[in-house]
Amino acid sequence: MRDAPGSRWPLAIAELERVIKVHALHNSPLPDEIDYALAWKPPPGALAQYPNLKAIFSMGAGVDHLMGDPSLPEAPIVRYVDPDLTNRMSEYVVQHVLMHHRRHLDYAEQQRQRIWRELPQPAANNVRVGIMGYGVLGRDVAAKLKILDFNVTAWSRTPKNVVPGIICFNGREMLRDFLGWTDILVCLLPLTPATRGILNRRLFVRLAKKGALPGRILINPGRGALQNEEDILSALDNGILSAVSLDVFNEEPLPPSSPLWRHPRVILTPHNAAWSEPVAVARSVARAIKAHRRGEPLACLVDRARGY
Ligand code: NDP
Ligand code: OXD
Repeated sequence: MRDAPGSRWPLAIAELERVIKVHALHNSPLPDEIDYALAWKPPPGALAQYPNLKAIFSMGAGVDHLMGDPSLPEAPIVRYVDPDLTNRMSEYVVQHVLMHHRRHLDYAEQQRQRIWRELPQPAANNVRVGIMGYGVLGRDVAAKLKILDFNVTAWSRTPKNVVPGIICFNGREMLRDFLGWTDILVCLLPLTPATRGILNRRLFVRLAKKGALPGRILINPGRGALQNEEDILSALDNGILSAVSLDVFNEEPLPPSSPLWRHPRVILTPHNAAWSEPVAVARSVARAIKAHRRGEPLACLVDRARGY
């Protein structure tokens, strides 16, 4: 999410203004007349001043930032679901799965030491990638990894229809089996009370004991609060995990004092696995508002009770 240098927001606002008059959050003259809000991490209470909202659009796929506001108006919450975002996330996950599969960290270290040595390289179909969260993003990632011939499993809250070549697990009672089949764990869960802190030592020790890769890998582009960072560091130091890729952190930006920055088995990115590109967001929201005004139901609604 976040804005990037060379902001595309002026262009995005121009897109939205083709459909609706746009005001900045703190600068709307008649709060009673505001129909829709578009927000990422508004300060708690900021949306409460708009009593007649017909919908709140999240600029991200995750809505935990909104759900944390106890004064959030009752309006339906629409999360951001768009092929642009989905493709960006799949790029990130495929890139990191391949980096670990092809021993990128080991070869980078060998290069630093000028060592010319081939390391054992399993075939993709001997490596098991387990995806926690088989929603919009998890499904696209699974399909793309499958094309590369990885063994893909997925874990979700509710059961899924059988997809050829992808083994699906669901619910807490099947979590242990899912983990036991996983060499590379990819986390694409939303942050909810049920998932907070789920990536911890107890879970890491349940990952597959013997796999084709030399160790077990965690890739988390979901949310920082899903992970226990101390457990990740100690699991890396004790060989429970052999490497991790993290895009999200409990505190963002990650403080300079965090040992994660310096750990040789950690690959970090600054919460940019899938950026919500402003013009793509604006087009998606403009389409939704047009359809809503025609009387069509809103799509991609958040279930407030579930939290995602
Ligand atoms: P979806 O809502 O489409 O999918 C969520 C998946 O998680 C579903 O399969 C759901 O199960 C599963 N799930 C939720 N709760 C549980 C639980 N308690 N136990 C097991 N499974 C559970 O979300 P998206 O795929 O669109 O996005 C996933 C997350 O990715 C976002 O919430 C956000 O946090 C993160 N994200 C990060 C970005 C980044 O740049 N780092 C960018 C975009 C998103 P079920 O199918 O049964 O409902
Ligand atoms: C999102 C994000 O949830 O950018 O879309 O993190």
